[in-house]
Amino acid sequence: MAESVVEGEGGDATRRDFIHIAAGAAAVGAGAMVVWPLINQMNPAADTLALASIEFDMTKVQEGQQVVIKWQGKPVFVRYRSAAELQKLQAEPNEGKPVQPDSARTKEGHGQYLVVLGNCTHLGCVPTFGTGDYGGWFCPCHGSHYDASGRIRKGPAPLNLVVPEYEFVSDTRIKIG
Ligand code: FES
Repeated sequence: MAESVVEGEGGDATRRDFIHIAAGAAAVGAGAMVVWPLINQMNPAADTLALASIEFDMTKVQEGQQVVIKWQGKPVFVRYRSAAELQKLQAEPNEGKPVQPDSARTKEGHGQYLVVLGNCTHLGCVPTFGTGDYGGWFCPCHGSHYDASGRIRKGPAPLNLVVPEYEFVSDTRIKIG
């Protein structure tokens, strides 16, 4: 008789445990359904992800010209430097502020192309090409001069124009980002 009581209590406990576990699991599931949309909305939107990297057809830029494309909300100068621009760069002494070899700012076998972010490294204005003292860009906001490699030569800007992460995915196409 005592044994049957013990068995009865054990059976009740097992049923209670099952009900508690099932209720707990349901509560966790419901909680996850409520929380997931909140977490998911913090993920980047699909269009943002798509802009994390972009491709550009280099045949769209002619020698001696530049095309400005937008990447992650920033202007990017894609410049096809003319033979005269490249000659001038080589002829100039590498003097002034942070000097980096032009070859370190371009891709091997594609030295005629320069790809840089189009924001002055001083306070972010957009410099214009061909109006500075060094054959490159001039920032009208506070007078920074960059050469045709985007290197700062004169003015308050502390750094060269930034070369973004990019690669040639074919002879005529680059992927930025
Ligand atoms: S923002 Fe270009 S010189 Fe100040």
